[in-house]
Amino acid sequence: MAESSSPPPVDAEVAVSESWPGENQVSSAALGVLLVDDEPAVLESLEMTLEEGCQVFTATTGEEALAVFDAQDIALVISDQRLPGMSGADFLTEVYTRNPDCIRLMLTGYADLSAIMRAVNEGHVYSYISKPWDPDSLRITVRHALDSYRLNQENKRLTHALSEANTKLEQENLYLRREVEGRYSFDAIIGSSPAMERVFEILEKVAQTDATVLVTGDTGTGKELIARAVHYSGSRKPRPFVAQNCGALPETLLESELFGHKRGSFTGAHSDKKGLFELANQGTVFLDEIGETGPSMQVRLLRVLQEGEIRPLGTAETHSVDVRIVAATNRDLQKEVEEGRFREDLFYRLRVVEIHVPALSERRDDIPELAHFFLDRANEKMGRTIQGFTNGAMDRLVAHTWKGNVRELENEIERVVALAGDAERVAVDMLSEHVSGMQPGENAAPGDVPGGNLSAAVDQLKRGMIRNALEETGNKSRAAESLGMPRQSLQKMMKRLKMEE
Ligand SMILES: Nc1ncnc2c1ncn2[C@@H]1O[C@H](COP(=O)(O)OP(=O)(O)OP(=O)(O)O)[C@@H](O)[C@H]1O
Ligand SMILES: [Mg+2]
Repeated sequence: MAESSSPPPVDAEVAVSESWPGENQVSSAALGVLLVDDEPAVLESLEMTLEEGCQVFTATTGEEALAVFDAQDIALVISDQRLPGMSGADFLTEVYTRNPDCIRLMLTGYADLSAIMRAVNEGHVYSYISKPWDPDSLRITVRHALDSYRLNQENKRLTHALSEANTKLEQENLYLRREVEGRYSFDAIIGSSPAMERVFEILEKVAQTDATVLVTGDTGTGKELIARAVHYSGSRKPRPFVAQNCGALPETLLESELFGHKRGSFTGAHSDKKGLFELANQGTVFLDEIGETGPSMQVRLLRVLQEGEIRPLGTAETHSVDVRIVAATNRDLQKEVEEGRFREDLFYRLRVVEIHVPALSERRDDIPELAHFFLDRANEKMGRTIQGFTNGAMDRLVAHTWKGNVRELENEIERVVALAGDAERVAVDMLSEHVSGMQPGENAAPGDVPGGNLSAAVDQLKRGMIRNALEETGNKSRAAESLGMPRQSLQKMMKRLKMEE
């Protein structure tokens, strides 16, 4: 047995080559192999057996070997069981504590079973090799050991990358969820008119409950926005908000969309399908255009509202579901009930709380704020920097009767921004004709004051407002009333303004 030497021969590198000559290679980088035996002849012969493909280090004692191990990147250790000083089994246990990934092989000169068992258990040795060894089988053992080391490293790297990607995804998810919640919270609903204040008041109260909500109002008033705010301001917000337009599908398909179906329950039902009520579990189902539903659908909806149960098409069993229902309509549902087109019981179940969103013409105070909001959004979307509106343009926007309500205003602003060129502010002549009240070819001077003449500008504004009022009301008496003037004055004014009868 040789004496243990010091300092450790950390530079005892004897063989380096590009790659291990094996068929199952995972990586071509040379891996560190540490050979430990007190007989130099054994070390030499091991080195020769291992040939190329790894970076070989040698040591003659366990202590010396540990110093090499600490200083180098070692993938595999082959150690004799019998060493001077620290035993081979203790050395391997020590290696295991320092790096459990390093593969450990033990050389044994005789059948010292108990030492082998201890090394297997405590040092977690990969395999043991008895002396004298068969060079080919040693080579194969080492090759497999190194392949397994490489796979393990690769695996770890991928697991780490995966967990990093997951963390990133989770963060992105959280960010997106906040975005969505922000976009659909109360704050994203513009309006400070008394009419909208009333809407917010109900909205805030009802969002904290599970009550069924019916949102009513003309087309484009923001019913869906309100429905989303009900969901995203309440406790169900981490769960799905699922919207279904009830007017968009034939009845059977709509029923299957909402309640699911069993395979074969109707032509085209090729497999079982879960309905939105199940998918939205613990969330909110938004039934848009509820007034468009037929009798069979109405019965099914009543069952959900009354019993909290659904029955997929083509099955006899019912499931209970936990969903909040928010419905919307631009029809007069009360009238639909009176005329026998809508079930009265369903109507009352839906209208536990009603939120009526007023038409934009009933809250003109909100128009400037909405117009600026949509201008900012369109600027951002189209990369423009339009600063605002001229007074004239804003007056027209406020005076116009928006039959398509907020959506029409939104579209108008988007159109203007798209066609604005390099204008700094939105001027009257940039608005659509029916909004500006200008005839084609009629030109507004800078600042929207035709010819710089104040009374001409006022006349133009009057013409626009009268035209709107007539359009809105259909006759002169009511137009005069809505403009706050006697009918005769209106008539006179129209004559003076040379407005066609
Ligand atoms: N108060 C508001 N603040 C900001 N944006 C609004 C407001 N009201 C409506 N909008 C916007 O106007 C458009 C129309 O709104 P929404 O789709 O909610 O209307 P709706 O009442 O459901 O219309 P429809 O009856 O045609 O289905 C949407 O782009 C919405 O974001
Ligand atoms: Mg809608």
